[in-house]
Amino acid sequence: MQFFIDTADVAEIRDLAATGLVDGVTTNPTLVHKAGRDFFEVLEEICGIVPGPVSAEVTATDFDTMLAEGKALAKLADNIAVKVPLTPDGLKTCKALSDGGTMVNVTLCFSAAQAILAAKAGATFISPFVGRLDDIGHDGLDLIADIVEIYDSYPEFDTKVLVASVRHPLHVVDAAKMGAHVATIPPAVLRAMFKHPLTDKGLAAFLEDWAKTGQSILNRDGKRDAPEPTRRSA
Ligand code: E4P
Repeated sequence: MQFFIDTADVAEIRDLAATGLVDGVTTNPTLVHKAGRDFFEVLEEICGIVPGPVSAEVTATDFDTMLAEGKALAKLADNIAVKVPLTPDGLKTCKALSDGGTMVNVTLCFSAAQAILAAKAGATFISPFVGRLDDIGHDGLDLIADIVEIYDSYPEFDTKVLVASVRHPLHVVDAAKMGAHVATIPPAVLRAMFKHPLTDKGLAAFLEDWAKTGQSILNRDGKRDAPEPTRRSA
């Protein structure tokens, strides 16, 4: 399963990318507004931090302008995935951009019927919003199960299921059990995935007992060895 980070906060992306666990990034107009910075500058920085897809959303609603915006965004870097809304014009734009070799993330998906349309339009990613469905009393993960099942039945669909609107670690775990390809995870949720009280408790006990041995791994002979220099690959 690939992990994307759902934020336009460059400092957060840099910090989490350093874990080596981040495959890509998703942004949306709300996240860009929260970041309070120039959209293009933010995107260029993000595309330089992560090698994988960086979703950048169009803001027009008609085909001609969406296509022009999508092309302008795609020019920024090879790893831009243009994000379009799941509307007739959005899917027309998806088809035109993906036919031209641009990655497209179709966003605001709330039904299996919409996901089928996006796959037929050649979307690279479909983004079903699980948290927003949960918010209105539906089970967002049921939609993930339906889309994974449908896409698996049609080898000609190579659209990846990108679980969006993730609110807690169990959304990621359950989506992984269903075989979803990608989850886009808010930074706080990714950090929460590391946590378990028994890990903290166990580590504290190991460190306490190790201290009692009076030994040091890097200081076997009483002298601290200098850390090995990092090797650069050619
Ligand atoms: C991702 O691409 C979406 O924009 C995002 O996950 C939406 O999440 P929200 O429902 O928490 O705003």
